Amino acid sequence: MSHRIAAKISGVAGYVPPKVLTNADLEKMVATNDEWIRTRTGICERHIADSATATSHLAVEAANLLLAQTKTDPAEIDLIIVASVTPDMMFPATACLVQDRIGAKRAWGFDLSAACSGFAYALTVGAQFVGSGAHKKVLVIGSDKMSSILDYSDRATCILFGDGAGAVLLEPAGENEGILDFEHDVDGSGGQYLYQPGGGSLNPASAETIAKKMHVVHQEGSQVFKYAARRMAEMSAKLLERNGFTKDDLTLLVPHQANLRIIRAAQERLGVDDSKVMVNIDRFANTTAGTIPLGLRDAVEQGRLHKGDLVLIATVGAGYTTGAVLLRWAY
Ligand SMILES: CC(C)(COP(=O)(O)OP(=O)(O)OC[C@H]1O[C@@H](n2cnc3c(N)ncnc32)[C@H](O)[C@@H]1OP(=O)(O)O)[C@@H](O)C(=O)NCCC(=O)NCCS
Repeated sequence: MSHRIAAKISGVAGYVPPKVLTNADLEKMVATNDEWIRTRTGICERHIADSATATSHLAVEAANLLLAQTKTDPAEIDLIIVASVTPDMMFPATACLVQDRIGAKRAWGFDLSAACSGFAYALTVGAQFVGSGAHKKVLVIGSDKMSSILDYSDRATCILFGDGAGAVLLEPAGENEGILDFEHDVDGSGGQYLYQPGGGSLNPASAETIAKKMHVVHQEGSQVFKYAARRMAEMSAKLLERNGFTKDDLTLLVPHQANLRIIRAAQERLGVDDSKVMVNIDRFANTTAGTIPLGLRDAVEQGRLHKGDLVLIATVGAGYTTGAVLLRWAY
């Protein structure tokens, strides 16, 4: 059974910090090279925030651009959901910091942790409040400062990620527009392959956790790779089929940007050609919760999305978490 939600995306914006870290820059930091990074990941460069800029600042930039673009008074926002694995602090929630700084006086809000699936999860959750009639305007933000949890001496992880944020506005949808269906799942047995062990209640920050580098991203890349390619394709195929569509009905697949080879493997399983797949990993790398809204933003800016288009979002993240959302673009 499909899960139609009467909610639509009525605007999208994104923000990446100005500083660019190229593959050539990384060559000076770790034993890597531009050719390896490009051919193994598709990444050419990524944006990195300075020390004064946190996840909330990236989120606020994206939110303010979105409010201006959609001519929305911040006081009209009912709810703010921030998806992130790099909150400014353990508490208060980054959503509270954003609420204050954008002047969303009436809004409540919370953070949602689902790693690279964070934005897709937050989109589905936020849409429920609109679809139920409880809220009229929900701000969904994916924002991560991945550079704050990377070990820049570990070549297997530091080359993969960048900093960035994207935001969408959710509003009530008409008959044949907005979120048509969604699918999410969790496979907690995969948690051991991608995680940040230090700083939580299990291993509170200490001189020892720092010395053991427990405060940074740990990953078994090849395990994540295989799981992501398979599950993104399976979820996408399931959603299309359940709603009576084939790959030919699809205007655009907007996948999470973790590795160009994961994206290509997933789209190959689905039988979707390059012209229907949004790729911007070359410029931004993996911004975790930021990749999908940044992909939607770029697709709109490049004239690749129009009212009535069938769009499929697909993602896999640490957890493992998986998400896919099928929508009819509404503007
Ligand atoms: C990390 C990833 C790019 C590694 O690519 P891979 O093709 O699986 O490469 P491997 O891990 O098998 O490593 C191959 C070799 O390259 C080396 N290598 C790893 N990173 C390197 C780098 N930045 N530069 C040069 N060599 C590197 C490895 O040390 C290994 O060398 P060895 O054979 O001498 O041991 C890939 O596994 C991946 O993208 N995984 C998914 C990661 C991801 O998306 N995470 C977020 C999920 S949301």
